[in-house]
Amino acid sequence: MSKRIDAIDFNVYYSKFLAVEGVNISIEPKSVTAFIGPSGCGKTTFLRTLNRMHEVIPGARVEGKLLLDGDDIYAPGVDPVSVRSTIGMVFQRPNPFPTMSIRDNVLAGIRLNGKRISKGDADTIVEKSLRGANLWNEVKDRLEKPGSGLSGGQQQRLCIARSIAVEPDVILMDEPCSALDPISTLAIEDLINEMKDQYTVVIVTHNMQQAARVSDKTAFFNIAGTGKPGKLIEYAETSTIFSTPREKATEDYVSGRFG
Ligand SMILES: Nc1ncnc2c1ncn2[C@@H]1O[C@H](COP(=O)(O)OP(=O)(O)OP(=O)(O)O)[C@@H](O)[C@H]1O
Ligand SMILES: [Mg+2]
Repeated sequence: MSKRIDAIDFNVYYSKFLAVEGVNISIEPKSVTAFIGPSGCGKTTFLRTLNRMHEVIPGARVEGKLLLDGDDIYAPGVDPVSVRSTIGMVFQRPNPFPTMSIRDNVLAGIRLNGKRISKGDADTIVEKSLRGANLWNEVKDRLEKPGSGLSGGQQQRLCIARSIAVEPDVILMDEPCSALDPISTLAIEDLINEMKDQYTVVIVTHNMQQAARVSDKTAFFNIAGTGKPGKLIEYAETSTIFSTPREKATEDYVSGRFG
């Protein structure tokens, strides 16, 4: 089930350093939202707060509210591990477990959540997730072979299969195509397009064409200078951000004048 995300007056710190300041954003369910902006403006930092991955760094903390369908995921008593199974994440570098089989990679998240499943159910989940990640036909005859034997693009789709196997509500992707060739990139973009029927998808990208191709809405983050916090400058329909943005900084960025 796809869910809505609302950040309200949200600040993100690494110890005393305020890395991201004052974010207010509503991310729609069943949509793709792109985060863009120059290096160091806090895209990864903010993305990682959305499933409580940020706080695994010593001294890292947040202020403000972060609501998933109205429920604050930072409320006292909320288990970060259960948040992470509801809100999955795909990283910049494909990171399948190298010695684990393709099949076990897909099931890794489910096992991590401590769920016991029968072999029949596991087979069903493996096929469904790999089909969902557009990888099934390429790997169905070698499910017991290690995940590291796949190409980079296949490994990234395996990581997407692993993240959808747990049936999350939201999938976060941090530059998921930056290590991939153009063909694999298009395969992932097609997949992202299909995924929005079922999930809330948030993707960080440095590729303007990619943001324009895959996202419904775009959030532009910027930073005033070194040591200053990153801020959300403008958030609107992707077509608006790329054609008639409200802010000069957005226009400069999307037209390649800086960043
Ligand atoms: N573990 C950390 N400890 C302290 N500061 C950090 C840490 N990770 C990131 N930062 C700082 O937080 C700020 C935002 O970094 P972040 O990685 O979120 O930027 P980004 O927008 O994702 O950049 P890029 O486009 O290069 O990936 C930067 O000033 C960075 O140096
Ligand atoms: Mg980053």
